[in-house]
Amino acid sequence: MKSFVSSSPVMGFLFSSFWAVLVLVLFLQPAAAQICTFWDSSCVDPVAQTAVPVDFRPLIIRDISLYYAYDANPRGKGQEPMTKTGFWLSFDNPRVDKSVITANRTSEVALRIGNMTGTPGGDNNGCDGVWGTDCSRDLKRALKHALFHLSSTGDYYSRPLETILNQMVVSPPTTLTSCPPQLWDVGTIPVEIFAQETIPDQEATLYSSGSTDDPLKTWYIDNMTAHEQAQQVAVAILSRAPSYDSEPPDSQEDIQIELACVQAPSGGSSATSNS
Ligand SMILES: *[C@@H]1O[C@H](CO)[C@@H](O)[C@H](O)[C@H]1NC(C)=O
Ligand SMILES: *[C@@H]1O[C@H](CO)[C@@H](O)[C@H](O)[C@H]1NC(C)=O
Ligand SMILES: *[C@@H]1O[C@H](CO)[C@@H](O)[C@H](O)[C@H]1NC(C)=O
Repeated sequence: MKSFVSSSPVMGFLFSSFWAVLVLVLFLQPAAAQICTFWDSSCVDPVAQTAVPVDFRPLIIRDISLYYAYDANPRGKGQEPMTKTGFWLSFDNPRVDKSVITANRTSEVALRIGNMTGTPGGDNNGCDGVWGTDCSRDLKRALKHALFHLSSTGDYYSRPLETILNQMVVSPPTTLTSCPPQLWDVGTIPVEIFAQETIPDQEATLYSSGSTDDPLKTWYIDNMTAHEQAQQVAVAILSRAPSYDSEPPDSQEDIQIELACVQAPSGGSSATSNS
């Protein structure tokens, strides 16, 4: 093979493309060959998946990657198509900065999908391209405000981001005029915890890195085809906020919110996975 590659630059190019494709196919093979049926909610055999690096400093020193993937079933439970969505975070040798662990804090990741299309791009990990810089800024502010308020009320909660998002889906914030109203037009916004910080030991427990075999969360969306889901923008919200047993924070700026907006192009004909 080496002699071919070196014999002419054109052949070299063809062969390196060939190998690039082969490597890609081999790389994708294990995921495609996995046995994960559509109705198994513990895994996802994706017709499409995508990942975006997210900066979650100061707690986690290296970027973490957010993965979003879905499988599709053209007949679902009967006649209507359905998709199964999964998401997870991947940590590549994560390093935690213990010096920033000054309170009991819970970090969560939410993924919102449905009734919103757009073109990811620009700051806030692609969200500014979907809805503009004003919406990203105002949404982060509104979420921080709600988390700050929640942690000051004394009402019990176990998952701060999940608690406020549930409230917002039921009664969307009327002040968020810079954001598209369909932002809240979803039945549910699944949320999972991925890190817990505790004092006085100054420890952070990170949930393990996920994969198609071990997503943080999966759920089913009725009447959605793979083609339709490919056009949807998946909005991830990552938060770091006071745990219930923490002292209330001094200001909203002690609460962290990161956004990420991604799309996953459909895998074409493989969208007929009906296993
Ligand atoms: C889209 O909006 C409709 C109408 O509000 C709602 O019934 C549906 O559940 C939404 N889709 C998703 C995926 O949440
Ligand atoms: C499924 O979606 C199609 C088009 O989006 C709509 O016309 C139809 O009423 C939906 N069916 C159900 C059961 O929601
Ligand atoms: C923080 O979490 C630890 C361990 O769960 C607990 O013992 C402590 O009371 C919590 N609150 C504060 C303010 O340290």
